[in-house]
Amino acid sequence: MQWNFQEIHQYAQAEAQSIDSAQALEAFRLKYLGKKGLVADVFASLPTAQAVDKAAIGKGANDLRNFVEKLIAEKLGSLSAVKTAGEKVDVSLPGTGDAIGHTHLLTQTMQEIIAVFEQMGFVTIETPEIETEFHNFTGLNIPIDHPSRDAFDTFYLDAEDPSARGRRLLLRSHTSPGQVRIMKEHQPPMAVIVPGRVYRPDAVDASHSFMFHQVEGLLVDEKVQFSELKGLLTEFCRRFFGPKVIMRFRPHFFPFTEPSAEVDINAEILGIQRKKWLEILGCGMVNPKVFEGVGYPKNKYKGFAFGMGVERMAMLKYGINDIRLFYENDVRFLKQF
Ligand code: PHE
Repeated sequence: MQWNFQEIHQYAQAEAQSIDSAQALEAFRLKYLGKKGLVADVFASLPTAQAVDKAAIGKGANDLRNFVEKLIAEKLGSLSAVKTAGEKVDVSLPGTGDAIGHTHLLTQTMQEIIAVFEQMGFVTIETPEIETEFHNFTGLNIPIDHPSRDAFDTFYLDAEDPSARGRRLLLRSHTSPGQVRIMKEHQPPMAVIVPGRVYRPDAVDASHSFMFHQVEGLLVDEKVQFSELKGLLTEFCRRFFGPKVIMRFRPHFFPFTEPSAEVDINAEILGIQRKKWLEILGCGMVNPKVFEGVGYPKNKYKGFAFGMGVERMAMLKYGINDIRLFYENDVRFLKQF
């Protein structure tokens, strides 16, 4: 078989010129350089060629391969240049921006609560999440047979309390142990808040979680009255929820405050239908036994304390009906706030 290499080169060159896509270039490569391509055909014709033609055919095949490779390399360069030109930045278009994150709704709510109390002169102190039985219970006048001490109501760690032989450490079940720690270290007058996580082995449902957040408050001075506690919490709720909030104080019992109350917020007024009243905090006048336990002189001081649930506050303020949404980290939920 005779090969007109000059004509083939011209043809390939013309063909290469019309290539305008990566796919067309690949088809072109296969046509010439593929296993069943033209260069392979030329080599395949060698065994049956006339002896005098063999050298020229071999050289022609090699030249053709080199020529096509060069055409492909050139084409590749110009194709990617076109592509880049097409992606040229149009500075007049609005930017797409980077989707950067923001603080979690719970952190935001915590910061809002803290900000209101700091405006009122309170100082923020954090105390440990791993506590001793003394700080979590005994120092708060919670008796040894109180149900909240039970292993079903508290997460005990497999670790002994270094300050009390035979007693185990635990995950705090409320932020109130912060009161005991702070009073052991500081003398009145004082106005502090203690924000943080607390743990109770509750079964998880729409309004319960085995971990949630509280903000504890404690004010101690020589003359402190229950009316001042009421006034402070009322003003706090107005600043946090807005002026239309309706709240009620309901008598309650806590071993570490006397008298004690719980505060409910009218959820209906805030536009939440699920329940009319939602409890947000416990509070009361510090029980003299707690002052005694931290070594304050008898009858010298009075004080009040409160502990509020941060998740509940966020649910009421932002109309969230399921506590689990806070912990699932579904971006569709998180980015709404
Ligand atoms: N520690 C209580 C609770 O978790 C709340 C509370 C705090 C009540 C301070 C009175 C005073 O339920």
